[in-house]
Amino acid sequence: MALNICVTGGQWGDEGKGKVIDILSEHFDVVVRFQGGSNAGHTVVIDGKTYFLHLVPSGIFHDEKVCVIGNGVVLDPFGLKEEIENLVSNGVSVNPDKLIISDRAHLVLPFHKILDKALEESRNFRKIGTTGRGIGPSYSTKALRLGIRVIDLFNESDLIPLLKDNVDCLNFLFKDYFKTETVNIDLLYKQLLEIRDFLAPFTANTVYKLEGFRKEGKSILFEGAQASLLDIDHGTYPFVTSSTVIAGGVSSGAGVPAKELDYTVGIFKAYCTRVGNGPFPTEAQNGMGEILRSIGGEFGTTTGRPRRCGWFDLVAAKYAKIINGYSHIALMKLDVLSKFEEIPVCIGYRYKGGILKEFPSDIKVLENVEPYYKFLNGWGTDITGIEKFEDLPEEAKDYVKYISDSMETNLFLISVGPDRNETIIVNNFIENNEV
Ligand code: IMP
Repeated sequence: MALNICVTGGQWGDEGKGKVIDILSEHFDVVVRFQGGSNAGHTVVIDGKTYFLHLVPSGIFHDEKVCVIGNGVVLDPFGLKEEIENLVSNGVSVNPDKLIISDRAHLVLPFHKILDKALEESRNFRKIGTTGRGIGPSYSTKALRLGIRVIDLFNESDLIPLLKDNVDCLNFLFKDYFKTETVNIDLLYKQLLEIRDFLAPFTANTVYKLEGFRKEGKSILFEGAQASLLDIDHGTYPFVTSSTVIAGGVSSGAGVPAKELDYTVGIFKAYCTRVGNGPFPTEAQNGMGEILRSIGGEFGTTTGRPRRCGWFDLVAAKYAKIINGYSHIALMKLDVLSKFEEIPVCIGYRYKGGILKEFPSDIKVLENVEPYYKFLNGWGTDITGIEKFEDLPEEAKDYVKYISDSMETNLFLISVGPDRNETIIVNNFIENNEV
């Protein structure tokens, strides 16, 4: 039976979605990105070789798969070209049969990136710590009905007035307010015509393509980028990204109705990290964060920034489960915790003399809560080579079971190392098709 599933990050990103999607891809015919842009950074390690993806869906490493960049993605056409050329030069085949780009996707253009950085620098209150990839400004021009979509590249005569409506007022702001570089419309126009020729063979109305795949009985995997707590509506606003990252984003971002999803899988690290600013109740103190960072190699794929590190937060994880409707979870990087004698898991937030069990909407509350921890026993031994759940130390089994039981969800897999092979499949729900 053809299955459709959606995989999203359950925390603040960088949970290891790339690895899970790469493993899952084998079972699917089509892999679809439905939101975000090149703020995403997926690291995929295959046979010891590391690949970085920003826009191209992780299914690209499997021949015979179709990868789709949906309309909900904001697409940096120049970055995409570079990414494709990089993959090709590393022996990965990328062609219009394998990669289809929505003609409705909005572009991220140089003025979006300049604005992203200028706004970030000029902000005095609540600096977001964006990736600087122009994501917020591109979604903003989309909402302002000023956006430039892939399809607009093919209407040459409208392109200059469209560019002028975007750039004229921004150039004024760039020059006179932000005192930063400006954009040359004529040059950008020429570059866009060139990039259009590169994109043209990949471009299609992906809604009909996806509908066609479904009618042919093909299985589709929807690949989320960023993560639930960075969702524009449900995350720690304003310290969020600018798109709908939860599973519901599939409807708007790919044009596939939510009811078509058979499973939703949440990816969680066995601990927690965050890049950029914003509340992080379980951020580790007293040097523990640095220890987690150095064992876990916690530096951003896209920006190289050190990630803030802390402990698993069940309050936040349960909230992510609600807003995505996770049927299954994957627990990543369990091996990173092997050295700790005791592992804290946050089961509530202490606030004003009480314990909160719900994830607060008010970031001022979230900024001021104290995590209420349950301490679980560590296992004190290397688990990287372990292939079966039964062979894990009892304490490691107890740790993962405590998390999945508390979340009332099924455990799909545990990751015990970066390579594709360093994975313990606990419940192969796809082969069992048991929900
Ligand atoms: P933006 O998406 O570049 O606007 O950044 C907004 C926030 O989301 C910042 O805190 C970023 O660090 C964070 N963010 C964006 N993309 C990712 C990602 O792929 N992983 C982790 N954090 C991300």
